[in-house]
Amino acid sequence: MMNALDSLVPQRYWAWASCVLLAVLCLALSPLTPVWFWPATLFALLSLVGLLDYTQDRQAIRRNYPVIAHFRFFFEFIRPEIRQYFIEADREELPFSRAQRSIVYQRAKGSADKRPFGTQLNVYESQYEWMNHSIAPSDIKSHDFRISIGGPDCPKPYSASVFNISAMSFGALSANAILALNEGAKRGNFCHDTGEGSISRYHRERGGDLTWEIGSGYFGCRNPQGGFDENKFSENAASDQVKMIEIKLSQGAKPGHGGVLPGAKVTPEIAEARGVPVGVDCVSPAKHSAFSTPLGLLQFVVKLRELSGGKPVGIKFAVGHPWEWFGIVKAMQETGITPDFIVVDVAKVAPVPRRWNSPITSVHQCAKR
Ligand SMILES: Cc1cc2nc3c(=O)[nH]c(=O)nc-3n(C[C@H](O)[C@H](O)[C@H](O)COP(=O)(O)O)c2cc1C
Repeated sequence: MMNALDSLVPQRYWAWASCVLLAVLCLALSPLTPVWFWPATLFALLSLVGLLDYTQDRQAIRRNYPVIAHFRFFFEFIRPEIRQYFIEADREELPFSRAQRSIVYQRAKGSADKRPFGTQLNVYESQYEWMNHSIAPSDIKSHDFRISIGGPDCPKPYSASVFNISAMSFGALSANAILALNEGAKRGNFCHDTGEGSISRYHRERGGDLTWEIGSGYFGCRNPQGGFDENKFSENAASDQVKMIEIKLSQGAKPGHGGVLPGAKVTPEIAEARGVPVGVDCVSPAKHSAFSTPLGLLQFVVKLRELSGGKPVGIKFAVGHPWEWFGIVKAMQETGITPDFIVVDVAKVAPVPRRWNSPITSVHQCAKR
């Protein structure tokens, strides 16, 4: 029966064909009672939609499945809500779970954010970590756990919090976001990394401590050709708010590509922070022009330390090829020059070799040796 019907009208047209049949049927019944006129109009409209679907040539799914194809678009449209309200568990999803988001919303609104005792976490899961009780707890002098960054070559070491704000440029984040983060850094006494977009007026307004990040575009310390400018660097680095300098070598988000901020997005405020012309494409090249080898990198570290009057200078990278990191370590051994701190990007996402379970742990162990 189905096969016979299918040979008459292919199954994929059944929804459309049903609309046509129902429109005709309702129209035929409408002289009996005018109420049939409404479904007749509805089905006639759907039949027209089917005709438009069938005759257009932009979307194969509409052409092949007239009328019914729209269900797909509808479900796709409400997919995020369906997932969020019915499927997603409270502790699922990255980068933030529903449970984490709701606590942030509650605190932002000043409403009750307390949770009852107990946990919803699976404490028997492998790799679940916890702290054990001790019957002989030690007396901790400060609960701030600050760490002094800056070796003997650094006349201006920085006492850093263990919690700091990772690099996110003005431009990638809005003015209000930068203001809020820097205000947080000021209140919490921790450090706010500028990101490679350099120091904007919004980084300066609230006066929170800054780590000034310098990427391959040398924003805030570049000459008109896009190279490194010592004078501009010294000028910006002299600011009391700048506590540390970070040379960005590579980042998980744009491996090997560099980046382009299209001219249309280079507003006067962004141009002012970066030291580039307004409205012109702002390019971060894939590689640095101030150095090209691990030895060159370490010499650049020394140079920045001197030009900044002795502030700690660190490096940031994503571990794409472990041997490149080993090359830097070898250069450190050879020269005795070490950066004052190392930031490893993208602990979980970078496609590092399988035997490298955690790039951070590996970099840490290697640096210690
Ligand atoms: C909006 C945004 C902008 C970012 N901009 C920069 C940047 O300018 N420089 C940089 O080194 N990293 C940048 N990052 C990467 C972060 O600093 C961080 O290394 C990365 O998100 C990995 O940390 P996570 O695992 O805690 O997310 C940016 C990340 C985000 C989400």
